[in-house]
Amino acid sequence: MPIVLEGQPALVTGANSGIGRAVALALGRAGADVVVNYVSDPEAAEAVAAEIRGFGRRAIALRADVSDEQEVETMFAEAIKVFGTLHVVVCNAGLQRDAPFHQMTLDQWHTVIGVNLTGQFLCARSAVREFVRRGVDEKVSTAASKIIHMSSVHEMIPWAGHANYAASKGGVEMLMKSLAQEVAPLRIRVNAIAPGAIRTPINTAAWQTPDAYADLMKLVPYKRIGEPADIGQAAVWLASDASDYVTGISLFVDGGMTLFPGFASGG
Ligand code: BGC
Repeated sequence: MPIVLEGQPALVTGANSGIGRAVALALGRAGADVVVNYVSDPEAAEAVAAEIRGFGRRAIALRADVSDEQEVETMFAEAIKVFGTLHVVVCNAGLQRDAPFHQMTLDQWHTVIGVNLTGQFLCARSAVREFVRRGVDEKVSTAASKIIHMSSVHEMIPWAGHANYAASKGGVEMLMKSLAQEVAPLRIRVNAIAPGAIRTPINTAAWQTPDAYADLMKLVPYKRIGEPADIGQAAVWLASDASDYVTGISLFVDGGMTLFPGFASGG
């Protein structure tokens, strides 16, 4: 992997497992020093940080619940103290609390919106404050900085039984676009990655058994599940100057899940 992110410290939320872990590792391999955020399982976060240090980069694990304003602000202050500044922030932490709509509790609603949407707002806000303070550093990047929101195919595909999750990701899309529009003149690029079905703990039930996997493949024209590294690669591209003229997009990394696969043989 080309060393395109040297001198650009990055912070990835929810980086102790799944997509966040793969993104943190990919950014580290691409030359970034990395803050590995987690909320539980410090050993897993420390292991990710240790792996990144193995690439010759600096890495620290910092605990913060992204839905908590004070914890987010404390984490950013600590990250900036350790690395001097941040150039790449990946708002990734996310969760599901699935339920049929009539049984969905307010707590399930609030938990998902709190982490997936409010959490992305709080982290992006702290990021923008630091990026505005520092501005462009032409030695490391043409842009003043880059924010990557982790969205989902469910920012556009409705998802029965997951109304809280789909609503949070629909919200992420317009948060991302509105912010991108607002800060583009400051040379801050804001984009999203919209993953399809990726092999992570959040959706184990969808891929673990051969029957579940076969069912899942009906929704994936490319006929393989996504791997976390597929998202890591996309994040490196969006974080690097290779995508310098790209802002305000959702990059779908989904094996064609958003191509209405049912219409391949119907309609
Ligand atoms: C969800 C997964 C799901 C995938 C495709 C993701 O955003 O978190 O549970 O498998 O979308 O439906």
